[in-house]
Amino acid sequence: MIKPIKKIGVFTSGGDAPGMNAAIRAVVRSSFYYGVQVAGINCGYQGMIEGDIIPELDIRSVNHILQKGGTILKSARCLEFHQKEGRAKAYQNLQNHGIDALVAIGGNGTFTGAKLLCEEFGIPVIGVPGTIDNDLHGTDFTIGFDTANNTVIHAVDNIRNTAQSHDRLFFVEVMGRDSGYIAAYTGLASGAVNILIPEKKTTIEDIIQKLEEGKKSNKSSHIIIVAEGFPLGSAEKVAAMVKEKFDYLETKVTTLGHIQRGGVPSCFDRVLASRLGVAAVEALLDGKTLLMAGLINNKIAYTPLEEAIQFKDSVDEEVVRVAEILSI
Ligand code: F6P
Repeated sequence: MIKPIKKIGVFTSGGDAPGMNAAIRAVVRSSFYYGVQVAGINCGYQGMIEGDIIPELDIRSVNHILQKGGTILKSARCLEFHQKEGRAKAYQNLQNHGIDALVAIGGNGTFTGAKLLCEEFGIPVIGVPGTIDNDLHGTDFTIGFDTANNTVIHAVDNIRNTAQSHDRLFFVEVMGRDSGYIAAYTGLASGAVNILIPEKKTTIEDIIQKLEEGKKSNKSSHIIIVAEGFPLGSAEKVAAMVKEKFDYLETKVTTLGHIQRGGVPSCFDRVLASRLGVAAVEALLDGKTLLMAGLINNKIAYTPLEEAIQFKDSVDEEVVRVAEILSI
Protein backbone atom coordinates (compact mmCIF):
# COMPACT_ATOMS: atom_id res chain seq x y z
CA MET A 1 0.00 0.00 0.00
CA ILE A 2 1.28 3.52 -0.82
CA LYS A 3 2.09 5.58 2.29
CA PRO A 4 -0.05 8.76 2.34
CA ILE A 5 1.97 11.95 1.88
CA LYS A 6 1.78 14.39 4.79
CA LYS A 7 4.69 16.72 4.10
CA ILE A 8 6.33 17.65 0.80
CA GLY A 9 9.83 19.10 0.69
CA VAL A 10 10.42 21.61 -2.08
CA PHE A 11 13.82 22.84 -3.27
CA THR A 12 15.57 24.54 -6.15
CA SER A 13 18.95 23.41 -7.37
CA GLY A 14 21.49 24.13 -10.11
CA GLY A 15 21.43 27.45 -11.97
CA ASP A 16 18.59 29.72 -10.87
CA ALA A 17 15.97 30.55 -13.48
CA PRO A 18 13.29 33.28 -13.57
CA GLY A 19 9.99 31.65 -12.64
CA MET A 20 11.41 29.31 -10.00
CA ASN A 21 9.65 31.38 -7.32
CA ALA A 22 6.35 31.03 -9.14
CA ALA A 23 6.88 27.26 -9.09
CA ILE A 24 7.64 27.29 -5.32
CA ARG A 25 4.49 29.32 -4.72
CA ALA A 26 2.44 26.85 -6.78
CA VAL A 27 3.81 23.89 -4.81
CA VAL A 28 3.09 25.56 -1.46
CA ARG A 29 -0.41 26.77 -2.30
CA SER A 30 -1.56 23.61 -4.09
CA SER A 31 -0.27 21.45 -1.25
CA PHE A 32 -2.29 23.53 1.20
CA TYR A 33 -5.29 23.16 -1.11
CA TYR A 34 -4.95 19.36 -0.84
CA GLY A 35 -4.30 19.43 2.94
CA VAL A 36 -0.57 18.64 2.79
CA GLN A 37 2.23 20.53 4.57
CA VAL A 38 5.31 21.87 2.81
CA ALA A 39 8.87 22.30 4.09
CA GLY A 40 11.33 24.51 2.20
CA ILE A 41 14.84 23.16 1.70
CA ASN A 42 17.38 25.97 1.31
CA CYS A 43 20.32 25.83 -1.12
CA GLY A 44 19.29 22.63 -2.90
CA TYR A 45 21.19 19.45 -2.01
CA GLN A 46 23.70 21.44 0.06
CA GLY A 47 20.92 22.53 2.42
CA MET A 48 19.49 19.01 2.46
CA ILE A 49 22.85 17.65 3.65
CA GLU A 50 23.33 20.44 6.20
CA GLY A 51 19.73 20.27 7.46
CA ASP A 52 19.06 23.85 6.33
CA ILE A 53 15.32 23.28 6.17
CA ILE A 54 12.41 25.66 6.84
CA PRO A 55 10.02 23.33 8.73
CA GLU A 56 6.89 24.85 7.28
CA LEU A 57 6.12 27.15 4.38
CA ASP A 58 2.58 28.39 4.90
CA ILE A 59 0.40 29.97 2.22
CA ARG A 60 1.42 33.51 3.25
CA SER A 61 5.13 32.70 3.17
CA VAL A 62 4.98 32.80 -0.62
CA ASN A 63 3.20 36.15 -0.91
CA HIS A 64 4.47 38.36 -3.73
CA ILE A 65 7.18 36.05 -4.99
CA LEU A 66 5.37 35.20 -8.24
CA GLN A 67 6.91 38.22 -9.93
CA LYS A 68 10.43 37.88 -8.53
CA GLY A 69 13.47 36.50 -10.35
CA GLY A 70 15.96 34.16 -8.67
CA THR A 71 14.78 31.72 -6.02
CA ILE A 72 13.78 32.51 -2.43
CA LEU A 73 15.03 29.05 -1.45
CA LYS A 74 18.45 29.81 -2.94
CA SER A 75 20.35 27.36 -5.06
CA ALA A 76 23.71 25.63 -5.11
CA ARG A 77 25.73 23.06 -6.99
CA CYS A 78 26.74 20.42 -4.42
CA LEU A 79 29.66 17.99 -4.86
CA GLU A 80 29.03 16.12 -1.59
CA PHE A 81 25.69 14.91 -2.89
CA HIS A 82 27.53 12.95 -5.61
CA GLN A 83 28.68 10.57 -2.83
CA LYS A 84 26.31 8.04 -1.32
CA GLU A 85 27.29 9.18 2.22
CA GLY A 86 26.19 12.70 1.34
CA ARG A 87 22.86 11.46 0.09
CA ALA A 88 22.40 9.34 3.23
CA LYS A 89 22.93 12.46 5.38
CA ALA A 90 20.42 14.33 3.24
CA TYR A 91 17.83 11.59 3.56
CA GLN A 92 18.31 11.49 7.34
CA ASN A 93 17.58 15.22 7.51
CA LEU A 94 14.45 14.78 5.40
CA GLN A 95 13.28 12.10 7.81
CA ASN A 96 14.07 14.31 10.84
CA HIS A 97 11.71 16.91 9.36
CA GLY A 98 8.97 14.39 8.52
CA ILE A 99 9.37 15.06 4.78
CA ASP A 100 7.94 12.11 2.90
CA ALA A 101 8.03 13.34 -0.72
CA LEU A 102 10.00 15.85 -2.79
CA VAL A 103 9.42 18.37 -5.55
CA ALA A 104 12.78 19.10 -7.20
CA ILE A 105 12.91 22.27 -9.29
CA GLY A 106 15.92 22.46 -11.60
CA GLY A 107 17.63 20.86 -14.58
CA ASN A 108 19.61 17.74 -15.47
CA GLY A 109 21.87 17.75 -12.39
CA THR A 110 18.93 18.32 -10.05
CA PHE A 111 16.97 15.45 -11.55
CA THR A 112 19.96 13.10 -11.54
CA GLY A 113 20.33 13.69 -7.78
CA ALA A 114 16.59 13.35 -7.15
CA LYS A 115 16.49 10.08 -9.05
CA LEU A 116 19.34 8.63 -6.96
CA LEU A 117 17.70 9.72 -3.71
CA CYS A 118 14.45 8.06 -4.72
CA GLU A 119 16.11 4.86 -5.91
CA GLU A 120 18.32 4.52 -2.83
CA PHE A 121 15.87 5.54 -0.10
CA GLY A 122 12.43 5.14 -1.65
CA ILE A 123 11.30 8.74 -1.19
CA PRO A 124 8.85 9.74 -3.98
CA VAL A 125 10.05 12.59 -6.15
CA ILE A 126 8.64 14.68 -8.99
CA GLY A 127 10.80 17.08 -11.00
CA VAL A 128 9.81 20.51 -12.29
CA PRO A 129 11.97 21.75 -15.18
CA GLY A 130 13.59 25.02 -14.10
CA THR A 131 16.48 26.10 -16.31
CA ILE A 132 17.00 28.80 -18.88
CA ASP A 133 18.68 26.27 -21.19
CA ASN A 134 15.52 24.46 -22.40
CA ASP A 135 17.60 21.30 -22.70
CA LEU A 136 15.29 18.72 -21.11
CA HIS A 137 13.28 16.06 -22.86
CA GLY A 138 9.58 15.82 -22.02
CA THR A 139 8.65 19.48 -22.09
CA ASP A 140 8.39 21.94 -24.96
CA PHE A 141 9.71 24.69 -22.68
CA THR A 142 11.53 24.89 -19.37
CA ILE A 143 10.83 27.57 -16.75
CA GLY A 144 13.07 30.58 -17.35
CA PHE A 145 13.76 30.01 -21.04
CA ASP A 146 11.23 32.60 -22.21
CA THR A 147 12.41 35.29 -19.78
CA ALA A 148 16.06 34.68 -20.66
CA ASN A 149 15.19 34.98 -24.34
CA ASN A 150 13.46 38.29 -23.71
CA THR A 151 16.49 39.58 -21.81
CA VAL A 152 18.73 38.56 -24.70
CA ILE A 153 16.67 40.18 -27.44
CA HIS A 154 16.39 43.38 -25.43
CA ALA A 155 20.21 43.47 -25.17
CA VAL A 156 20.68 42.60 -28.84
CA ASP A 157 18.22 45.31 -29.89
CA ASN A 158 20.42 47.79 -28.02
CA ILE A 159 23.56 46.40 -29.61
CA ARG A 160 21.86 46.70 -33.00
CA ASN A 161 21.66 50.49 -32.54
CA THR A 162 25.43 50.70 -32.26
CA ALA A 163 26.00 48.11 -34.99
CA GLN A 164 23.86 50.16 -37.37
CA SER A 165 25.26 53.55 -36.39
CA HIS A 166 28.86 52.39 -36.88
CA ASP A 167 28.43 49.75 -39.61
CA ARG A 168 29.82 47.09 -37.30
CA LEU A 169 29.84 43.33 -37.06
CA PHE A 170 28.89 42.04 -33.60
CA PHE A 171 29.34 38.54 -32.21
CA VAL A 172 27.01 38.11 -29.23
CA GLU A 173 27.55 35.10 -27.01
CA VAL A 174 24.54 33.68 -25.19
CA MET A 175 24.18 30.98 -22.52
CA GLY A 176 22.67 27.53 -22.92
CA ARG A 177 25.51 25.25 -21.83
CA ASP A 178 25.60 22.49 -24.52
CA SER A 179 22.26 23.52 -25.99
CA GLY A 180 21.60 25.99 -28.80
CA TYR A 181 17.99 26.75 -27.85
CA ILE A 182 18.55 30.26 -26.50
CA ALA A 183 20.76 31.09 -29.49
CA ALA A 184 18.25 29.73 -32.02
CA TYR A 185 15.23 31.53 -30.59
CA THR A 186 16.96 34.83 -29.90
CA GLY A 187 18.81 34.75 -33.20
CA LEU A 188 15.52 34.49 -35.03
CA ALA A 189 13.84 37.09 -32.82
CA SER A 190 16.63 39.64 -33.18
CA GLY A 191 17.22 39.24 -36.92
CA ALA A 192 20.73 37.83 -36.59
CA VAL A 193 22.56 37.19 -39.84
CA ASN A 194 23.88 33.91 -38.47
CA ILE A 195 23.23 31.66 -35.49
CA LEU A 196 26.06 29.43 -34.32
CA ILE A 197 24.82 26.47 -32.30
CA PRO A 198 26.28 23.12 -31.23
CA GLU A 199 23.51 21.21 -32.99
CA LYS A 200 24.38 22.50 -36.47
CA LYS A 201 27.78 22.27 -38.12
CA THR A 202 28.99 25.68 -39.28
CA THR A 203 32.53 26.38 -40.48
CA ILE A 204 34.43 29.69 -40.46
CA GLU A 205 34.12 29.63 -44.26
CA ASP A 206 30.30 29.31 -43.96
CA ILE A 207 30.24 32.35 -41.67
CA ILE A 208 32.38 34.38 -44.04
CA GLN A 209 30.30 33.38 -47.05
CA LYS A 210 27.15 34.65 -45.30
CA LEU A 211 28.88 37.92 -44.46
CA GLU A 212 30.09 38.31 -48.07
CA GLU A 213 26.52 37.82 -49.29
CA GLY A 214 25.34 40.51 -46.89
CA LYS A 215 28.08 42.83 -48.11
CA LYS A 216 26.93 42.34 -51.72
CA SER A 217 23.34 43.23 -50.83
CA ASN A 218 24.45 46.33 -48.88
CA LYS A 219 23.74 45.02 -45.37
CA SER A 220 25.07 47.67 -43.02
CA SER A 221 25.03 45.91 -39.64
CA HIS A 222 25.57 42.27 -38.85
CA ILE A 223 24.76 40.46 -35.63
CA ILE A 224 25.91 36.88 -35.17
CA ILE A 225 24.56 34.98 -32.17
CA VAL A 226 26.98 32.43 -30.74
CA ALA A 227 25.78 29.73 -28.34
CA GLU A 228 28.29 29.23 -25.52
CA GLY A 229 28.51 25.54 -26.50
CA PHE A 230 29.43 26.24 -30.14
CA PRO A 231 32.15 23.67 -30.96
CA LEU A 232 34.57 26.08 -32.68
CA GLY A 233 34.89 28.11 -29.48
CA SER A 234 33.67 31.21 -27.71
CA ALA A 235 32.38 34.32 -29.51
CA GLU A 236 35.80 35.92 -28.86
CA LYS A 237 37.59 33.03 -30.55
CA VAL A 238 35.22 32.76 -33.51
CA ALA A 239 35.34 36.55 -34.04
CA ALA A 240 39.15 36.43 -34.15
CA MET A 241 39.12 33.61 -36.73
CA VAL A 242 36.59 35.42 -38.91
CA LYS A 243 38.46 38.71 -38.65
CA GLU A 244 41.61 37.12 -40.09
CA LYS A 245 39.83 36.52 -43.40
CA PHE A 246 37.06 39.14 -43.35
CA ASP A 247 38.10 42.59 -42.19
CA TYR A 248 35.63 44.63 -44.19
CA LEU A 249 33.66 45.55 -41.04
CA GLU A 250 34.83 46.63 -37.63
CA THR A 251 34.24 43.64 -35.36
CA LYS A 252 33.06 43.68 -31.74
CA VAL A 253 32.21 40.94 -29.25
CA THR A 254 29.68 40.99 -26.41
CA THR A 255 29.25 38.14 -23.97
CA LEU A 256 25.93 38.58 -22.20
CA GLY A 257 26.67 36.27 -19.26
CA HIS A 258 24.56 36.09 -16.12
CA ILE A 259 22.20 38.95 -16.92
CA GLN A 260 20.39 36.20 -18.85
CA ARG A 261 19.59 34.34 -15.64
CA GLY A 262 18.00 37.20 -13.75
CA GLY A 263 15.07 39.53 -14.02
CA VAL A 264 11.33 39.60 -13.64
CA PRO A 265 9.81 36.39 -15.02
CA SER A 266 7.69 36.80 -18.15
CA CYS A 267 3.98 36.05 -18.16
CA PHE A 268 4.73 32.84 -20.04
CA ASP A 269 7.19 31.65 -17.38
CA ARG A 270 4.85 32.54 -14.51
CA VAL A 271 2.00 30.59 -16.10
CA LEU A 272 4.25 27.65 -16.97
CA ALA A 273 5.77 27.53 -13.47
CA SER A 274 2.35 27.74 -11.82
CA ARG A 275 0.93 24.93 -13.95
CA LEU A 276 3.94 22.66 -13.47
CA GLY A 277 4.14 23.31 -9.71
CA VAL A 278 0.51 22.23 -9.27
CA ALA A 279 1.02 19.27 -11.63
CA ALA A 280 3.99 18.10 -9.54
CA VAL A 281 2.00 18.11 -6.29
CA GLU A 282 -0.98 16.38 -7.93
CA ALA A 283 1.32 13.70 -9.33
CA LEU A 284 2.82 12.99 -5.90
CA LEU A 285 -0.61 12.79 -4.29
CA ASP A 286 -1.63 10.44 -7.07
CA GLY A 287 1.15 8.04 -6.05
CA LYS A 288 3.44 8.91 -8.97
CA THR A 289 7.20 9.17 -8.61
CA LEU A 290 10.43 9.50 -10.63
CA LEU A 291 8.68 11.69 -13.20
CA MET A 292 9.13 15.22 -14.49
CA ALA A 293 6.04 17.37 -14.98
CA GLY A 294 6.31 19.15 -18.32
CA LEU A 295 4.23 20.76 -20.99
CA ILE A 296 3.84 19.15 -24.41
CA ASN A 297 1.57 20.83 -26.95
CA ASN A 298 0.23 22.99 -24.13
CA LYS A 299 -0.91 19.97 -22.10
CA ILE A 300 0.61 18.67 -18.87
CA ALA A 301 2.72 15.59 -19.60
CA TYR A 302 4.77 13.40 -17.27
CA THR A 303 8.08 11.96 -18.45
CA PRO A 304 10.32 9.54 -16.54
CA LEU A 305 13.23 11.48 -14.99
CA GLU A 306 15.53 8.98 -16.65
CA GLU A 307 14.36 10.18 -20.09
CA ALA A 308 14.10 13.86 -19.15
CA ILE A 309 17.80 14.05 -18.33
CA GLN A 310 19.00 12.42 -21.53
CA PHE A 311 20.92 14.99 -23.53
CA LYS A 312 18.51 16.86 -25.81
CA ASP A 313 20.73 17.03 -28.87
CA SER A 314 18.37 18.78 -31.26
CA VAL A 315 16.93 22.26 -31.40
CA ASP A 316 13.65 23.19 -32.97
CA GLU A 317 14.70 22.62 -36.60
CA GLU A 318 11.88 24.70 -38.00
CA VAL A 319 13.01 27.70 -35.95
CA VAL A 320 16.54 27.35 -37.33
CA ARG A 321 15.23 26.97 -40.89
CA VAL A 322 13.01 30.06 -40.62
CA ALA A 323 15.92 32.07 -39.22
CA GLU A 324 18.04 30.99 -42.20
CA ILE A 325 15.37 31.96 -44.74
CA LEU A 326 14.92 35.38 -43.20
CA SER A 327 18.53 36.26 -42.51
CA ILE A 328 19.43 37.24 -46.07
O1 F6P B 1 22.25 25.97 -16.74
C1 F6P B 1 22.08 27.34 -16.71
C2 F6P B 1 23.38 28.05 -17.04
O2 F6P B 1 23.16 29.44 -16.96
C3 F6P B 1 24.03 27.67 -18.37
O3 F6P B 1 23.42 28.32 -19.46
C4 F6P B 1 25.45 28.07 -18.12
O4 F6P B 1 26.32 27.31 -18.93
C5 F6P B 1 25.65 27.75 -16.66
O5 F6P B 1 24.36 27.71 -16.07
C6 F6P B 1 26.50 28.74 -15.90
O6 F6P B 1 26.64 28.25 -14.61
P1 F6P B 1 27.22 29.11 -13.38
O7 F6P B 1 26.20 30.13 -13.02
O8 F6P B 1 27.41 28.11 -12.31
O9 F6P B 1 28.47 29.74 -13.87
